[in-house]
Amino acid sequence: MKRIITVIMLVSSLVMILPACGQTTVPENSNEDSSTQTQSDNSTAVQPDETTSGDTFPEETQPEESQNPEDTALPSENGKDVLVVVFSATGTTKAVAERIAAYTGGDLYEIKAAQEYTSADLNYNDSNSRTTKEQNDKSARPEIGSADLSLDGYKTVFIGYPIWWGEEPRILDTFVERYSFDGITCIPFCTSGGSGVGRSDDNLASNAGSGNWKSGKLLNRVSDSDLQSWIDSVK
Ligand SMILES: Cc1cc2nc3c(=O)[nH]c(=O)nc-3n(C[C@H](O)[C@H](O)[C@H](O)COP(=O)(O)O)c2cc1C
Repeated sequence: MKRIITVIMLVSSLVMILPACGQTTVPENSNEDSSTQTQSDNSTAVQPDETTSGDTFPEETQPEESQNPEDTALPSENGKDVLVVVFSATGTTKAVAERIAAYTGGDLYEIKAAQEYTSADLNYNDSNSRTTKEQNDKSARPEIGSADLSLDGYKTVFIGYPIWWGEEPRILDTFVERYSFDGITCIPFCTSGGSGVGRSDDNLASNAGSGNWKSGKLLNRVSDSDLQSWIDSVK
């Protein structure tokens, strides 16, 4: 009897152990299934790689973006492609330049003379004043004191100045002769005591020798709406 009971216990133990052994084989089988599926389906094989590199995915796209031809003409280091250059002896043209920079979101660069213009220098009633002499000499090139500029990345450059004796101050010629404006749209603007643009825009374009120069614009006491319409029309 004892033997029969022992046999029954042995058999029932086996019945309980076998299914457990079967369960350990199921994950192994499912692993095989999974790897088989991955190997047999290239599209699903790529997905895990992409997912794994998901964290680095933007880095992978960055080189592609930098290879975009449009990016080679990317704006200046700070991302802007409009530059407003201004020379202003008494602040009138500079105020207009600041409004243009504000409206366009562009950078502002002020041309300052290495030797600042004094009131005596600016006296147009004096035939011997510095400005009178400079304006009478087409080859005069007053030295610029402000830091050198890089035009890299700029697509549009507004260039502002006061009218002196019907023309651009000669220091503007120093400026345009110093840089290459290849591929850049150059837009002269000025203020005056009443005179027009005169030959100033043509003089600048011809002295620059590069760039796509637009006609100059006189912006005396210009309203915001007129200023903005003009900018929209030329930019
Ligand atoms: C030396 C000199 C020459 C000038 N010549 C003229 C001129 O020929 N015609 C004119 O309308 N205004 C003339 N002006 C006036 C300036 O063009 C005008 O005041 C201008 O708005 C000044 O700009 P700014 O403050 O940016 O220097 C002259 C001013 C100076 C100092």
